[in-house]
Amino acid sequence: MADANHWNERYDTIGSTQVSWFETDPVVSLELFDLIGVSPEDPVIDIGGGASVLVDALIARGHRDVTVLDVADRALAVARARIGATTAVEWVAADLLDWRPDRRRRVWHDRAVMHFLVEDTDLDRYVDRLQAAVEPDGFVVVGVFAEDGPETCSALPVRRWSIADLTAFLADEVGVDVIESRRHVHHTPAGHPQPFTWVAGRRTGSRASL
Ligand SMILES: C[S@@+](CC[C@H](N)C(=O)[O-])C[C@H]1O[C@@H](n2cnc3c(N)ncnc32)[C@H](O)[C@@H]1O
Repeated sequence: MADANHWNERYDTIGSTQVSWFETDPVVSLELFDLIGVSPEDPVIDIGGGASVLVDALIARGHRDVTVLDVADRALAVARARIGATTAVEWVAADLLDWRPDRRRRVWHDRAVMHFLVEDTDLDRYVDRLQAAVEPDGFVVVGVFAEDGPETCSALPVRRWSIADLTAFLADEVGVDVIESRRHVHHTPAGHPQPFTWVAGRRTGSRASL
């Protein structure tokens, strides 16, 4: 269960462009979207999107159905103020593990959220939410700390993933055919390197628990 107060406090006290995960340009996400064939017509959900500028980049590319979900309502408020009034974005303040999607999206994007799920039971719930939220042949793009990445993020423990482990997890537990994977080193605003594992693919629709 995520602590909304913890996350709101991080955004409030550090600032949305100074938090360790801030990036000015979501290059890896957009590159992977292009390589796996995401198009502007595809509804996207950015899981734990916070105040990320991915939503800005997607709108600039012509996306007209983007959902940003985050437990930190104050991070969403920052992004919402930046973007302004638009029907192209739905803002959802919720814990993803409790969230009940009202419709399926075509693309699930998660940068630096799944790695907070260190308990197997929470990972099970994550898989359950993903399967409920994404079309049976939809796209899945996930970026988490790599096996040699930091052991904590935002003062919380994380589970670190190799490309092989994340690929196997998404294939076996979600039914995702991985199309592309990457190691990418993010540099925090303070200049510290953080190796990430990125995996992008497509649900095969082959699992019984669709
Ligand atoms: C490390 S930050 C990454 C933010 C964003 N994805 C980015 O790349 O800039 C993790 C984000 O996930 C959110 N978060 C953490 N656990 C969550 C949960 N269980 N449900 C929804 N949001 C969560 C936090 O509030 C925070 O905005």
